[in-house]
Amino acid sequence: MSRGEIKRLFEPESVAVIGASTTPGKIGYSVVRNLRNGGYEGKVYPINPKADEIWGYKVYAGIGKVEGPVDLTVITVPAALTYDSVKEAVAKGTKYITIITSGFGEVGDYETENKIVACANEGGARILGPNIFGVFSAAGKCNTTFSANNILPGNVAILTQSGALGIAMIGKTAAANIGLSVMASIGNKSDLDEADCLEYVIRDDSTKAILMYVEGIKDGIRFMDALRRATAVKPVIILKAGRSQRGAMAAASHTGSLAGSDEIFDAVIKQCGAARAETLEEAFNWCNFAANTPPPKKHNFVIITNGGGIGVMATDACETYNIPLYDDQNVLKEAFTPMTPAFGSVKNPIDITGGATSTDYNLALAASAATKEVEGVMALYCETATFDTENLTPMVKETYKKHKELGKAIVYALVGGELVSDSIRALQKDGIPAYSDVMHAVSSLGVSYNYQNYIAKKHDAADWAKIDTAGINSIIDRALADGRSFLLANEGSDVMKAAGVAIPGSEVAPSLEKAIELAEKMGYPVVMKVVSRDILHKSDAGGVILGVKHKDDVIAGYDTIIKNCKKHNPKAVIDGIEVTEMVSAGTEFIVGGRRDPAFGPVVMFGLGGVYVEVMKDVVFRALPISRDEARSMVDSIKAAKLLSGVRGQAKRDVNSIVDTIIKVSTILNECPRITDIEVNPIVVYEEGKGLKAVDSRIMIAK
Ligand code: ACO
Repeated sequence: MSRGEIKRLFEPESVAVIGASTTPGKIGYSVVRNLRNGGYEGKVYPINPKADEIWGYKVYAGIGKVEGPVDLTVITVPAALTYDSVKEAVAKGTKYITIITSGFGEVGDYETENKIVACANEGGARILGPNIFGVFSAAGKCNTTFSANNILPGNVAILTQSGALGIAMIGKTAAANIGLSVMASIGNKSDLDEADCLEYVIRDDSTKAILMYVEGIKDGIRFMDALRRATAVKPVIILKAGRSQRGAMAAASHTGSLAGSDEIFDAVIKQCGAARAETLEEAFNWCNFAANTPPPKKHNFVIITNGGGIGVMATDACETYNIPLYDDQNVLKEAFTPMTPAFGSVKNPIDITGGATSTDYNLALAASAATKEVEGVMALYCETATFDTENLTPMVKETYKKHKELGKAIVYALVGGELVSDSIRALQKDGIPAYSDVMHAVSSLGVSYNYQNYIAKKHDAADWAKIDTAGINSIIDRALADGRSFLLANEGSDVMKAAGVAIPGSEVAPSLEKAIELAEKMGYPVVMKVVSRDILHKSDAGGVILGVKHKDDVIAGYDTIIKNCKKHNPKAVIDGIEVTEMVSAGTEFIVGGRRDPAFGPVVMFGLGGVYVEVMKDVVFRALPISRDEARSMVDSIKAAKLLSGVRGQAKRDVNSIVDTIIKVSTILNECPRITDIEVNPIVVYEEGKGLKAVDSRIMIAK
């Protein structure tokens, strides 16, 4: 299927409904009704062996009896009849088949589901579903869902894996006055999936923002590719269930798909420029804002408020969404002093105080419009006794218009009772971004602002490092031949050397005499580590001694490690003791990677050392990545400040971390038998002085 071809699924010229029914309340009845009432202008062919006419359309006893071509066939017969219906539709030459019927993969019957897909694909047809509630397209005036027959047309496209939630979203969007350009239920994704549907909405001119409800992704690589192409032209908001372990299990059983690791999913969609919403309300707000409001392209924002509390809340939210607040005190003072009482504040947030009237707001917002340095505004309002509430709606309308004309972004958070709610409803009807909650206003602006930054950024192609792949492969060959699924410590060090990652000098001593010789040669202090295929977590087994300063300590240490390890695992075969140069203190990080079942190889960076699992300050990216992306990983961990030099320390060598991320990415890419890799700790020194990868754990598979 070429990318543009899927249009016929959404905008067919003819639709057959196998299982069309004359009985109100049945799904086959509702689909035909919705086609009719939705104003569909193409040909409709209800198929039913017993009926003559449904909703004014002539009924056919079988799809084979239809005279003209059929672009789309909708199936609403029970599961047991579905395969035969698909076979007949394929024989008729239909290109797209949507299967509303449930009772396939989601209840474990993958055999029938696969048989249906094979039959369709062999005949040149594609399947959407089964287990869906249908498809709606405003451009095609085509509503083949069995839900509402009065979907409000508009410019938000919704692609949903959950049918019931999709139906509820139609109702909720209508209530919130959000018009839809597309609604597609994806269901079991037996053949077509969200990546295919994205192809249509990317090209659909009426779609200005895309909302996706996702439970699990089967083909992450295709998904990322489609998502990147979508975000290059339109904002995409994703609502994904299954953040918790229990939620992920529920999601997996709901549509029979792989829920995967939520942290990887989260990282991947951000990497592809999409935003992740936590709640339906958040998702609707963001989509509505992105679809209907001029995007905030500029940077200097001010908050204007009559309440100190909501001003502080908005300031916090700005930090969360990286919205830069304008800070030139002279400009702010000059612009906002005239309408701000002495007990207010002209520092951003501008607090015009609880006594402010609509006239004061008009003046303050006229000042933000007139001040060229101010590029975006968040206007917050708390209902007060002194405010002339009857003037709230006109004030917002007028000030919105003024800012819009000047190309300045503006959002409103209006907090209050019934009258304020009425005002919000009236404003939203006119497409004005007015919200009842500060977080909704700031987050809508923030998501849109971050999206503008994403599309303004150059997205470089992949960067790879030059590594000795053949050398690494021969290490893996030997380990696999030895029956192991992991590399020994010294083999891990050899992999690092082959990838050009700096490691401390080290060698394995098969005897105490050799250990003494190596330590004397390296110079004290040294580290002694057990080398054993039976001991993966060396520290836990008492197999590591740091800071060995003298020959006598080597002798004692050698004995202690052997005793500890034998106690930990009496059957452990000990190949020797690795004597390693003691790395001087620095800041500890981790670089690693693994293969995600959906998204393939992913690289990880974070705060390292022994607390990595407790702190969980790590970020992921799906491969490939550019050096810029690797740099953004470094900048986005919470501990990033440690790298810019804290408490008088010099800046750390960030370039060498970026190099290491790219080297580990290259290992994962070029050595598919490596399943997991963890280089930890990586001790990073001051700028220009590089790093040392102290330890690595590498898992392998055939
Ligand atoms: N060709 C054409 N029509 C046929 C054929 C045939 N070979 N055989 C039977 N029919 C007709 C029937 O006579 C009937 O029409 P009638 O009412 O005029 O007699 C019609 O097809 C439907 O068949 P029924 O046996 O009445 O099936 P029913 O409508 O009860 O159920 C359905 C079919 C809706 C597909 C059901 O099996 C099902 O899967 N329901 C769940 C659907 C669902 O929820 N999907 C997921 C949506 S997303 C979400 O979560 C909400």
